[in-house]
Amino acid sequence: MQTVTLIPGDGIGPEITKSVTRILKEAGAQIEWDIQSAGAEVAEIEGTPLPDRVIESIKHNKVALKAPVTTPIGKGFRSVNVALRKSLNLYANLRPCKNIEGIKTRFDNVDLVIVRENTEDLYAGIERQVDDNTAESIKIITRKASTRIVEFAFDYAIKNNRKLVTAVSKANICKLSDGLFLECAREVAKKFPQIEYKEILVDNLCMQLVQKPEQFDVLVLPNLYGDIVSDLCAGLIGGLGIAQGANIGEDAAVFEPVHGSAPDIKGQNKANPTALLLSAIEMLKYIKQNNIAEKIEKALFETIKEKKILTPDLGGIATTTDFTNEIIKKL
Ligand code: NAI
Repeated sequence: MQTVTLIPGDGIGPEITKSVTRILKEAGAQIEWDIQSAGAEVAEIEGTPLPDRVIESIKHNKVALKAPVTTPIGKGFRSVNVALRKSLNLYANLRPCKNIEGIKTRFDNVDLVIVRENTEDLYAGIERQVDDNTAESIKIITRKASTRIVEFAFDYAIKNNRKLVTAVSKANICKLSDGLFLECAREVAKKFPQIEYKEILVDNLCMQLVQKPEQFDVLVLPNLYGDIVSDLCAGLIGGLGIAQGANIGEDAAVFEPVHGSAPDIKGQNKANPTALLLSAIEMLKYIKQNNIAEKIEKALFETIKEKKILTPDLGGIATTTDFTNEIIKKL
């Protein structure tokens, strides 16, 4: 039995969390949930949307499943996500992107994984106004973070039976910073001769992705390119309702969907739990409950493929509860 921190979030968070925890329980997942509330309502009571107890719980359990959390506007608190990543040093942003049969998109052969560096690059936040007409932002690339993220990508490739890792950069222009990223990538690649290694410039990558996405397997990128390319890839497979993600560090991992708390459909029982469920499936693989993960994956994909019981974002009329019940029926 593994204890996992569960953040049900707010907005549609609690609805999709209920769906996902029901499915995991029925599938036989060996998990005990340590439920930690966070978000806007918590901020009203505890004065912060991310109380220390949430961080402490994740530090202790080392794994968390997180539903979306609304970021209060104008209360001086940065995003809960940014705060979580920082406090827990979650350096790798992992975003698997795979077509789901039954969801129509321009491509039917996307199956790639984005590994984005999460801690430096232009996100280091070192900016200054030089004068009224000039601002500057410093791009930080270090050997330590670059080596760590590329090692993560190769490790992921081996553990998930992937064959190719492609390092993405703009080293023709950012010769020193992206040059260092590539130098680290080449060093790491030598340690993994069983995995093919390639390099590509980020502009060419974007063009190739919207023409022949099937040629890519694992992509490893510095923070900014990773952010942009992640969204491009989410678009390739059909959008927010199915886009999963994870933030992983040396001591902890937080699995969460890409989407937000969707206040426009809150409480209407029509949110699609797929993105959170796919995030939970990745979490199950991370905690080595692979059989359960595969069982749920199969039931989910069968349900979507049949196209009979789908939530409105996927073109259906089913409720979150109907969709959940159908997956459970198929387990
Ligand atoms: P959003 O992702 O919540 O919603 C955008 C659109 O997608 C809405 O029309 C919504 O109904 C739809 N949608 C999102 N998830 C869906 C699902 N599972 N099923 C069906 N439809 C879905 O983005 P928005 O409205 O910009 O953000 C709302 C709040 O969420 C904000 O406070 C934002 O800060 C927060 N947020 C939190 C994130 C997190 O906790 N990881 C990530 C992104 C935003």
